[in-house]
Amino acid sequence: MPAIYSKAPGKIILFGEHAVVYGQPAIAIPVTQVHATARVFPILNGRPGDIRIQAPDIHLDSALSDLPKDDPIATAVQLSLETIGLNSPPAFKLQVSSTIPIAAGMGSSAAISIVVIRAVSDFFGRHLQTDDVSQLTYQVEKIQHGVPSGIDNSVIAYQKAVCFTRDKPIEFFDITGSTHWIIADTGEKTPTRVTVGDVRNRYEEERETYQDYFNRIGAITQKAKQGLIKGDKERLGNLMDENQHWLAQIGVSSQSIEHLIEAAREAGALGAKLSGGGRGGNIIALSPSGEIETITAALLEAGAKRVIKTILTQGEGS
Ligand code: PMV
Repeated sequence: MPAIYSKAPGKIILFGEHAVVYGQPAIAIPVTQVHATARVFPILNGRPGDIRIQAPDIHLDSALSDLPKDDPIATAVQLSLETIGLNSPPAFKLQVSSTIPIAAGMGSSAAISIVVIRAVSDFFGRHLQTDDVSQLTYQVEKIQHGVPSGIDNSVIAYQKAVCFTRDKPIEFFDITGSTHWIIADTGEKTPTRVTVGDVRNRYEEERETYQDYFNRIGAITQKAKQGLIKGDKERLGNLMDENQHWLAQIGVSSQSIEHLIEAAREAGALGAKLSGGGRGGNIIALSPSGEIETITAALLEAGAKRVIKTILTQGEGS
């Protein structure tokens, strides 16, 4: 059995976070400038069932059998083996690594599960369909994150822009032209489950108001999908600003977010908003093609801890 290699990108949400939890659509794109990789090698002369897991980024080097049951990499390996019907596979070594920032709303955990599931199943000659890989990853994500919406496993497994609505089939759409996105990290972190929980409490207290906010964000996301389809950057930028307004209303913005957004807009961004759970984390700005370096410099000057630039190009959306 030859060694197998698998690679998956990170992701970023463009529109619709939080509202997506309440049944509204959200749009996310792959970020190919960062990625997770997995390699599987045979262990020659190993005993059947011997599986070694190595993830140097997190200082992990362990037998699968010594890992906790809920370890995400162990879970992804077990699910893959169950799916392909192997109880006692020939011995193998799995090496995992990732350049996707951890706990930064860039899909690091989903990408790692995806590469593990693909590499392990391919190693045994059982190539799984993208939808199966996505569904298995969702199961791993549930163990780690409670009830995630499912957007991360979808956008990363398919490696295409997606419009995602809970309990509905994922929508892919054709985009026109290229759009340049700049992702800047505020350096502050609030776990997504905390902001999601806070929004839930506020929603329980003021249902009508919050339902109205979610509906408005949903309508913005639908318009943004049309903006991407038509390649209308000015419109997309305006819609980002509108989306940010409502995210601030629902209480998930913060000073550091507003500060970076302001810096991006002043440096020429067509629009900017927070991305993901909020109260820290990343902002995302839409850049005219000639202003990428100016906006990047302005964001770093304003205190961004890390800036990642990515392009969404025609053909990646469908
Ligand atoms: O922080 P991220 O990129 O994992 O995004 C969270 C998005 C939310 O809508 C806030 C939560 C969810 O599960 O969709």
